[in-house]
Amino acid sequence: MPQQPTQKRVIGAEHISDAHARGLLQIEVFPGDIVTTLATESAQRLGIKLLDGPLPKANVHRTDGATAMRRSLYRRSPRWVAPSASSAKRRVHRFSKIALVGAGNVGCTIAQLAAHADLSAQITLIDLVPGLAESIALDLNHAAGITRSKAIADGGTDLTRVANADVVVVTAGRPRTPGMLRSDLIEINRRVIRKVGEAVKESAPDAIVIVVTNPLDEMTVEMLHATGFSRDKVLGMAGTLDSSRFRQALAQAASVNCADVEAMTLGSHGDEMAPVLSRARIKDRPLDVHLSADTIADSAQQAVAGGAAVVKLRRTGSAFIAPAYATLEILDHLRGARTGTVPVSVMLEGEYGINDVVLGVPCELGMQGLTGVQEITLNDQETQALHEAARAIKDRLADLT
Ligand code: NAI
Ligand code: 2OP
Repeated sequence: MPQQPTQKRVIGAEHISDAHARGLLQIEVFPGDIVTTLATESAQRLGIKLLDGPLPKANVHRTDGATAMRRSLYRRSPRWVAPSASSAKRRVHRFSKIALVGAGNVGCTIAQLAAHADLSAQITLIDLVPGLAESIALDLNHAAGITRSKAIADGGTDLTRVANADVVVVTAGRPRTPGMLRSDLIEINRRVIRKVGEAVKESAPDAIVIVVTNPLDEMTVEMLHATGFSRDKVLGMAGTLDSSRFRQALAQAASVNCADVEAMTLGSHGDEMAPVLSRARIKDRPLDVHLSADTIADSAQQAVAGGAAVVKLRRTGSAFIAPAYATLEILDHLRGARTGTVPVSVMLEGEYGINDVVLGVPCELGMQGLTGVQEITLNDQETQALHEAARAIKDRLADLT
């Protein structure tokens, strides 16, 4: 632990980012230090504890053999020490099995990232195209001689392969082509989701389901109906992707690193997305300290239109790299590798004054799925955007026969 500084410090989000980058799990806060709200939120999100100092025992500057060994093995900055097993109080789980239904671009990329992160003992791919899932599983296993991943991949066409999965990630369905709205996929993909959901209910009744297939919010509702699972078991992935796009657009506009930007989007994964400008920060300061109103609006629009921009360039499909990372972020929150809140599309039960519709909101996750919805303070415009998104999704669902 550091010596008590002689001057009072302002601990901002950049200190938390720095601590996170250095692998620290706690920061000592001395009497008189000021911890900004954003720093507190960042610390919570990254699982870094803010402890009241001075702490009774100092251990960062120890030079015992184990510390010296960890320091020399990792060779980062001279001050950096890899966390020891005893200091890492947080329990990070490894899944026994994750099943990926849909072995197209997004499913295949999730499989690669999951194998690389070694976050599951078994990775099962399922796709209706004969040979596709098997070939990707085989290819992935061939890479293990290099990556040394212990995860074993397998694949097939049969949906009963989801049996015993802790988590089923569903990317099965059609992606958009240029000119299509996500909502244009609703009729085609809801049949796929219904079939997959019924199979999950039958073969993996205890699984957590992460829906990726578009239109995301509507397909998450469809999955809830098809499985009959409670809302804590059915999560929609979109907010992690849209928030990443938003942070990247802001970082690029302000010429800073993405790590210096805190921002998220809520609402739907579509035109009714609600980028939360009031709480966004660049280097711990409000956006308008760094950027003009037009540039802020443009960055928000880049998040809303990011998916369409990729579709326009690709022509035959949609984004899959950022979506796969965004799904990994949810898997990491479930298994405790990341803590704090994360935007996920879940069925609302009165939160934000909204009921009976799936919407992206800040959530806490654990190995059992959704553990809580966080109701953050939004300004009137943002609250209205959230309510408009809810109304639009309900209208689209009501139009379905
Ligand atoms: P893709 O076309 O590359 O892969 C989809 C796969 O699903 C295909 O291999 C297809 O054979 C398979 N499939 C279709 N019906 C199936 C069924 N009944 N059972 C098993 N497999 C089935 O598409 P991609 O790029 O992987 O996208 C997948 C879905 O994810 C699309 O709906 C896309 O719009 C959506 N998406 C959603 C994102 C989000 O943020 N929520 C981000 C990116 C994509
Ligand atoms: C995206 O936003 C296709 O919804 C997907 O990239």
